[in-house]
Amino acid sequence: MPSYIVVGGQWGDEGKGSVMAYLAMKDGPEVIVRGGVGTNAGHSVFINGKKYAVRQLPTGFMQTKARLLVGAGVLVDPIVFFHELEALKDFNVAHRVGIDYRCAIIENKHKELDRTNGYLHGKIGTTGSGCGPANADRVMRRAELAKDIEGLKPYLTDVAAEVNDNLDEGKLVLVEGTQGFGLSLYYGTYPYVTSKDTTASAIASDVGIGPTRVDEVVVVFKSFPTRVGAGPFPTEMSQEEAEKLGLVEYGTVTGRRRRVGWFDLDFARYSARLNGATMIALTMLDKYDRDAFGVTDYDKLPKKAKEFVEEIEEHVGVPVALIKTGPELEHIIDRREMI
Ligand code: GTP
Ligand code: IMP
Ligand code: MG
Repeated sequence: MPSYIVVGGQWGDEGKGSVMAYLAMKDGPEVIVRGGVGTNAGHSVFINGKKYAVRQLPTGFMQTKARLLVGAGVLVDPIVFFHELEALKDFNVAHRVGIDYRCAIIENKHKELDRTNGYLHGKIGTTGSGCGPANADRVMRRAELAKDIEGLKPYLTDVAAEVNDNLDEGKLVLVEGTQGFGLSLYYGTYPYVTSKDTTASAIASDVGIGPTRVDEVVVVFKSFPTRVGAGPFPTEMSQEEAEKLGLVEYGTVTGRRRRVGWFDLDFARYSARLNGATMIALTMLDKYDRDAFGVTDYDKLPKKAKEFVEEIEEHVGVPVALIKTGPELEHIIDRREMI
């Protein structure tokens, strides 16, 4: 059974959450594990008309058979963690969740700094979740770790060992990344970036698996990319144009209005290359072509939508194997058999 890593290919909010949720329900993994930065992420998913948003736990929580893990590279905010255990109690989350004992902790002082610092908050437009300051303390070797927090003790585990044990046994592991390629500390639009690398290799490292153990890298692209916070966005459109196209969106974590742009083929190609993409998941195709809404069979897609998919495949050189055509889990075209 393969391991999958799902990462964002643009500036985050590509809909990774809904792609993860689909894979979690369809493929029935043994383990779903979060890599990435921390609670700056907001992944939302629609299940039976109800919207759920998670910032700390993996978005595949609705697969009630799976173990839910948070890798050592991820920052943990205990307040958000306990809030999500409560908010997701219908899914029996508390009994199957594990946090790596080496995760670093986001403290209140980190959040305060992230919300008041004129450079981070004012210039970069950070999420205010405390991630940057907490990672800075981690690098300075003075952060608290999960093993230092009394309330987290029942949930502590060696995530890296668990993930590798499952792979040894041939079990399916889904790994969830956060943010997007353009927000990578190394490859993004520095300094308008997040506090870590966000590419698939970094996500693998976050959960403790080596490059040889990754089988599929799914890079998620949104038909109309969005960006929240400051920084370059070469294909950005005006707010009026976005409104005309029905593309008004607000951030899951901060509630800020997202900037919207046109799909950038060259950027997508570069992003797919550096991530080592084996497949693309394209979301919000129904926003590109309204007649694509809810379609689940590739052959039934309207011409305009199909041409867009083909253009991406041709230019990026990677198959578009998953296509989201609406907000619900079942609004998806799964073409993975073609690869
Ligand atoms: P990630 O951070 O990448 O997980 O994305 P996000 O959750 O921040 O994105 P957003 O807040 O925009 O949430 C995605 C929402 O859009 C979820 O409620 C999804 O169900 C929904 N969605 C996902 N894919 C599609 C799609 O193809 N079409 C439409 N109309 N909605 C979608
Ligand atoms: P930070 O990660 O909170 O430090 O924010 C740094 C930059 O990344 C800002 O431009 C944020 O808006 C952006 N960012 C961080 N997390 C997300 C996310 O989950 N989605 C979209 N943008 C994000
Ligand atoms: Mg998001």
